[in-house]
Amino acid sequence: MSYSRERSQPIFDRALEVLVKGVSSNFRFLGKKTTPVVSKGKGAHIWDADGNKFIDYRLGWGPIIIGHADERINQAVIDHLENGTTFAATTELEVIVAEKLVQMIPGMEKLRFTNTGTEATMHALRTARGYTNKEKFIKFEGQYHGAHDYVLFSTASSSVSAMGSRTSPIPVQVGSGIPNKIRDYVYCLPFNDFEAVEKCVKDHRGEVAAMLVEPCLGNIAGIEPKKGFLEHLRSLCDENNIVLVFDEVKTGFRLSNGGARETYGVIPDISTYAKSLGNGFPVAAFGGFSDVMNVIGGGSVTHAGTFGANGVSMAAANAVLDILTEAPVLKNLSKKGLKLKNGLDKILTEADLPHQMCGHPNIQGFLITDKKVEEVRDLIHSDDHMYEAIMNNMYSRGVWIENDPREPWFLCSSHTDLIIDETLNIFQDSVKASIH
Ligand SMILES: Cc1ncc(COP(=O)(O)O)c(C=O)c1O
Repeated sequence: MSYSRERSQPIFDRALEVLVKGVSSNFRFLGKKTTPVVSKGKGAHIWDADGNKFIDYRLGWGPIIIGHADERINQAVIDHLENGTTFAATTELEVIVAEKLVQMIPGMEKLRFTNTGTEATMHALRTARGYTNKEKFIKFEGQYHGAHDYVLFSTASSSVSAMGSRTSPIPVQVGSGIPNKIRDYVYCLPFNDFEAVEKCVKDHRGEVAAMLVEPCLGNIAGIEPKKGFLEHLRSLCDENNIVLVFDEVKTGFRLSNGGARETYGVIPDISTYAKSLGNGFPVAAFGGFSDVMNVIGGGSVTHAGTFGANGVSMAAANAVLDILTEAPVLKNLSKKGLKLKNGLDKILTEADLPHQMCGHPNIQGFLITDKKVEEVRDLIHSDDHMYEAIMNNMYSRGVWIENDPREPWFLCSSHTDLIIDETLNIFQDSVKASIH
């Protein structure tokens, strides 16, 4: 089935006239005649401009943890609007939200608010450099940390063949416009490779300020760390005066209330949050141990932002944190996520499609391959065409998941058991339709 674009196409034609490629973020462009135009969302569903309804597993690439247009969060924002939003001054609401974060997140002692994940990782990196007086940092291939120059190397969209050999990896710039010299500041290493990290730290002793890591690969099907890998990073950082930075932009307020550090039991020095913290409203934060964070300000590390902790973002975050703490929302979500994961696994097995299930139930994915998948280089074995065919069939049956296996399936608490059952039925039909 193909959808009517009677209303969507004229809107997108206008978009193409005034927005570059008709979108406000590169990855949203899916073709001049095929890019969807969304008009609204409610709970676990979204509607396009022609009124076609979809079960949504993209969830805005992760922020929606409760559901679209949640009435409690909307009301909190509406109530707050009366008070104004931006004062270039501390507000009590900002203090309340910060206190909640300190209480919820193990090892979180001091923090600052920003508005996007990009800002949060940019400031976290600068803080680590200011604290250690060193300039270089380690990141992991396939990880995405936002759109600032320092981190746009060897991300999920980089070609694996350009990354060189595993033992001597080459940082690959993501697109043009990134100064070549910035490459000298970054070491890109394969995720889950204990030896590669140890060797890099030894070979560059005294140079590395930070290890910046997504604790599970939120941009590669949710691939999880091998047992002991995050502990290994922790001890290498401790031994070498390196700041361990967890990028929890996708995992924070999604895996558990305390984030990936709670799920995997490893506490970083600092970490970054965005997406689920606002359930769709733009709010972000970075923070961690006081001795590291205290290098900010007072003539040392610069952190600034006109819109940091604005009233709208604080009202939304405050409501989200209350919802997450008043009931075991994320634990319940994991049960539904597991039901979905087991169901997808069973259908793929019955269809004789070799596959690897990946990720935590709340941010999961799968790859069509019989080879084990532990990091981005393993994706060369993945049958992306089959994956794309299945997801296109899902889309045409009213379930919207990214048709690229690198982007995980996101769940939110509005995905009911009924919706999961409906998804599984549609998945079974879509797999059948894609094979034949
Ligand atoms: C792990 C991670 N870090 C940082 C970012 C950047 O966040 P933002 O798009 O809010 O700038 C993203 C965005 O997808 C992300 O997945």
